[in-house]
Amino acid sequence: MQTSAFAHWLVVLVETLAALFMVLLAVAVMVVLVVWLVDRNQTANSVLRNFPVIGHFRYWFLHLGEFFRQYLYSSDREEMPFNRAQRTWVYRAAKNVDNTNAFGSSRDLRAEGVPFFVNAPFPSLGEQHVKPKPVTLGPYAREPYSHAAFFNISAMSFGALSAPAVRALSIGAAKAGIWMDTGEGGLAPYHLEGGCDIIFEIGTAKYGVRTPDGKLDDQKLLAICAHPQVKMVSIKLGQGAKPGMGGLLPGVKVTPEIAAIRGIPVGEDSQSPNRHLDIGNVTELMNAVRHIRDLTGKPTGFKAVMGGLDWIDELCEEVHRRGIESAPDFIIVDGSEGGTGAAPQTLMEGVGLPLRESLPALVNTLIRHGLRDRIKVICSGKCITAYDVAWALSMGADFVNSARGFMLALGCIQSLQCNRNTCPTGITTQNTKLQRGLVVTDKSERVYHYAKNVMQEVGIIAHSCGVEEPRQLDRTHCRVMGDDGVSVPLVKLFPYPQTPASRV
Ligand SMILES: Cc1cc2nc3c(=O)[nH]c(=O)nc-3n(C[C@H](O)[C@H](O)[C@H](O)COP(=O)(O)O)c2cc1C
Repeated sequence: MQTSAFAHWLVVLVETLAALFMVLLAVAVMVVLVVWLVDRNQTANSVLRNFPVIGHFRYWFLHLGEFFRQYLYSSDREEMPFNRAQRTWVYRAAKNVDNTNAFGSSRDLRAEGVPFFVNAPFPSLGEQHVKPKPVTLGPYAREPYSHAAFFNISAMSFGALSAPAVRALSIGAAKAGIWMDTGEGGLAPYHLEGGCDIIFEIGTAKYGVRTPDGKLDDQKLLAICAHPQVKMVSIKLGQGAKPGMGGLLPGVKVTPEIAAIRGIPVGEDSQSPNRHLDIGNVTELMNAVRHIRDLTGKPTGFKAVMGGLDWIDELCEEVHRRGIESAPDFIIVDGSEGGTGAAPQTLMEGVGLPLRESLPALVNTLIRHGLRDRIKVICSGKCITAYDVAWALSMGADFVNSARGFMLALGCIQSLQCNRNTCPTGITTQNTKLQRGLVVTDKSERVYHYAKNVMQEVGIIAHSCGVEEPRQLDRTHCRVMGDDGVSVPLVKLFPYPQTPASRV
């Protein structure tokens, strides 16, 4: 009796499953037929018009290819902007785990452009090593700023970054004794949370310090600079990933909080102008520097991407005409290889000088005008490992900034989605579900360790080169591989110019 009931239910189950299968099959056939008809008759896509239905696999595989290449097929030294070897170095430095390799380097040391350092036959001894000395910016400002750490956090706005990302950077920066640049999105409470030094950036839309018609609101700037953590003000003329174009914050990222901090409408795309409305030449730039420095008392400079450098010559001449105290206190030179939250590929790939050319060109121009000591040079552009940073110091930078290095320290996996609000690691998204993945207490420690380990390893390079501290590195300490497989010292590639006696 029981057996026959069981058999009955088994038959019913099989019949039901078979019927369900037939229904699903019929639906699938119908769907395929409809897609086939739509594909065949649409006019926009030739592949689908010629290969209806199966043509869709092309897009699917293209999408999957991104993941397969990153995880399975690309070699350690292949990907851009940062290859796996570079990313792994940053991850390990940030996790503060052993970063030594065995057997030999996988980096092709014969490739053109590879820099390497000139070790001294007799490296400096431990007792000779000194901590990097503080460098003073803005000696004529009411509140000059002295800062020792040569590796700091580059401009990234709250908006491009999530709140937990900014908080983790702020806390980690304070622990490491490095500064954090606010980027162009205004000052958020998250920037102040950790207690680190802050560089306040004024972008072309003057977010956070704008009048309703987009001009500088002095009172708002004064209120921001009243925070003792705000040490300097940087006027953003441009950035490497999009020279000559303003920032773009997609509407999906403009939450009520971000809108309030920036002074813009909620949920609408926010495009900042290509340049400051009130800065259209060198004289106006100098006027803006003077105005902001006089108003706030803080050292003031600007961030730019170099194309030609004639305008820097012009600026230096103007400084000499007005008097040395009128000079911008620093210039942040951003290489064309710089990153961003969102920019057109055309600008990212085709406009502006890369840092390896623009940094020496800027430093040499300042030397020629006798302003190298007065105007401090800060640089950024793919300086994420210790030897990148050591290269920049050798070339003449006083400070090196990094944006994406610190994003990797926060756990970025280079999924290239900063502009879509879908960042899987919670760093560049305003989606709170995705932000949950970024645990501030853990990631702030990584920021701290990353900064500390980079500076420590730059110290190791410096000591190997026989100098006492990294800022003593110069162009005689680094060589660059040429196209004939023979390296050339930096000092030969980019000789130091003479400072005219009248301006020493
Ligand atoms: C997500 C993101 C947001 C950025 N936002 C700004 C910004 O608001 N202002 C700015 O001057 N630069 C901005 N940048 C550029 C960086 O400050 C930096 O100049 C550039 O990425 C080069 O440094 P890196 O190679 O270490 O990333 C941003 C970069 C990234 C990746």
